[in-house]
Amino acid sequence: MFAPGEMVLLVDPTGKRHLVRLAEADTLHHHLGAVHHADVIGQPEGARVRSSQGRIFTAVRPRLLDSIFEMPRKSGIVYPKDAAHLIAWADIAPGHRVLESGVGSGALTLALLRAVSDKGQVIGYEQRADFIELALNNVRTFAEHSSGNLLLREKNVYDGLVDEDLDRIVLDLPEPWHVLPHVPSALKQGGWLAAYNPSVIQVSQLVDALRATQRYIQVETHEVLLRGWHVQGAAVRPEHEMVGHTGFITVARLVAEGN
Ligand SMILES: C[S@@+](CC[C@H](N)C(=O)[O-])C[C@H]1O[C@@H](n2cnc3c(N)ncnc32)[C@H](O)[C@@H]1O
Repeated sequence: MFAPGEMVLLVDPTGKRHLVRLAEADTLHHHLGAVHHADVIGQPEGARVRSSQGRIFTAVRPRLLDSIFEMPRKSGIVYPKDAAHLIAWADIAPGHRVLESGVGSGALTLALLRAVSDKGQVIGYEQRADFIELALNNVRTFAEHSSGNLLLREKNVYDGLVDEDLDRIVLDLPEPWHVLPHVPSALKQGGWLAAYNPSVIQVSQLVDALRATQRYIQVETHEVLLRGWHVQGAAVRPEHEMVGHTGFITVARLVAEGN
């Protein structure tokens, strides 16, 4: 049953989503009528509640991606389509210790915390204190149960890594190649490095730097294009609009020195 303090998605009659934190005295003010939180509290997931205009709103728990799209942000974020791909190709799994830098608004952090589960840990290096605060607030708001699995360090990652024995390293910052000298002492051999970069110039420089070390195999760069479809009766066609570009995902696997 929905309880006060819980984040709930109220889906309006047009299908639009409204993320609210339930509080007995609060109301969602909507042009199709007011929805009183008190009418949602105590109801099971999927409940239909009536607004003050008699319109039906549906109450469900948000998906992680609903939270990511709705959360406060001050940086560009890694979209769920890219986070999902990065997690799959860098093979990030329950129990892993993952180093992430920079943390920014914490969108990718939320996806990584979900992937490592309560058995794993995400260690975030972020150089700006205001982003650390924002990311921490977002994790506490949207994934309270996993905030204990997150360790944030206020650090410039280009200066070095104080953590060792990491299973994965994930980078979303302007010059990821500056991190490469610090990787072999921190990442387990056989572990994956993944980087998210909006610009192909960054990708090119990163991949050149990875190859120059002769320590990485399975170096691949991908772009994920997500196209929604409009499906209604005989009108079945791609949506007119899509997100044209977000970023590129590069993965690489650290191996032993060799000749
Ligand atoms: C694009 S944002 C990351 C967004 C994040 N992945 C998300 O999904 O919300 C890049 C972040 O990297 C941080 N950053 C840039 N250079 C850094 C460095 N050398 N060390 C640590 N953090 C850095 C910035 O302060 C910024 O917060």
